[in-house]
Amino acid sequence: MVAALKVEEQILPPALEHVPKHIAIIMDGNGRWAKARGLPRAEGHRQGTENLRRIIRACVEFGVEVLTIYAFSTENWRRPPLEVRLLMTILQTVIQRELQELSDNGVQIRHIGQLDRIAPSLQKEILHACDYTKDNHRLILNVAFNYGGRDEIVHAVQQIVKDGIPADQINEDLINHYMYTGDLPDPDLVIRTSGELRLSNFLIWQAAYSEYYFTDTYWPDFDKAELRKAIEEYARRTRRFGKTDEQVQDEEE
Ligand code: IPE
Ligand code: IPE
Ligand code: MG
Repeated sequence: MVAALKVEEQILPPALEHVPKHIAIIMDGNGRWAKARGLPRAEGHRQGTENLRRIIRACVEFGVEVLTIYAFSTENWRRPPLEVRLLMTILQTVIQRELQELSDNGVQIRHIGQLDRIAPSLQKEILHACDYTKDNHRLILNVAFNYGGRDEIVHAVQQIVKDGIPADQINEDLINHYMYTGDLPDPDLVIRTSGELRLSNFLIWQAAYSEYYFTDTYWPDFDKAELRKAIEEYARRTRRFGKTDEQVQDEEE
């Protein structure tokens, strides 16, 4: 019995501490993952989608409260039409295939970005997924699709003007409120896979004080163990928010 317990102790990884409340991921490298294997880009996107299932499950397990994923940027319209169409179809298929299981796991789906350029049938599908899962509270999954950070700011300013908000009432809280992420907490940790060191117009307002984690691993290979590594590194960092180390230590005591 004692021996059995010991084996179990060895197998189970230690519990994670300081798990970020909100993780945002730039899921990059599907194309290069495929190319490295002599496969079409489409296969990279398919494997990337499979990986997303694993990462959502891991986030639920680790106790992450909000996961924001970059699935299609406002700049991705510049890709060849066939690939754009494929990425649209993938989202549609994922919603149709995964909605029930996501909902059963307590995932609340939200969309961030503009719906307008998206085909009406897919718009309907997205809105349905959001409505169907709106009462779930285990994990909020923000799907950034046709999302751009600059576009989001333009949209927020337009809404503020339309609502006739006087200049002296405009502050950071108000602007936050007008962002697609609404009143959600800012991302604590932004992860980008595939070795690129840039934000590519992702959450440029919300990620002003996030911690960043970059890895060379392509998205389809970024598994639960890699996510754990990212969270462990995050836990080792000191977030000062402009203060001194001493102040931060005093606050922790
Ligand atoms: C990320 O993989 C998926 C999307 C941007 C939709 P990429 O398609 O950008 O893959 P790379 O960067 O070409 O390898
Ligand atoms: C960012 O990846 C967008 C998504 C992951 C959806 P890209 O592959 O489009 O970014 P760039 O163009 O290389 O910066
Ligand atoms: Mg890319």
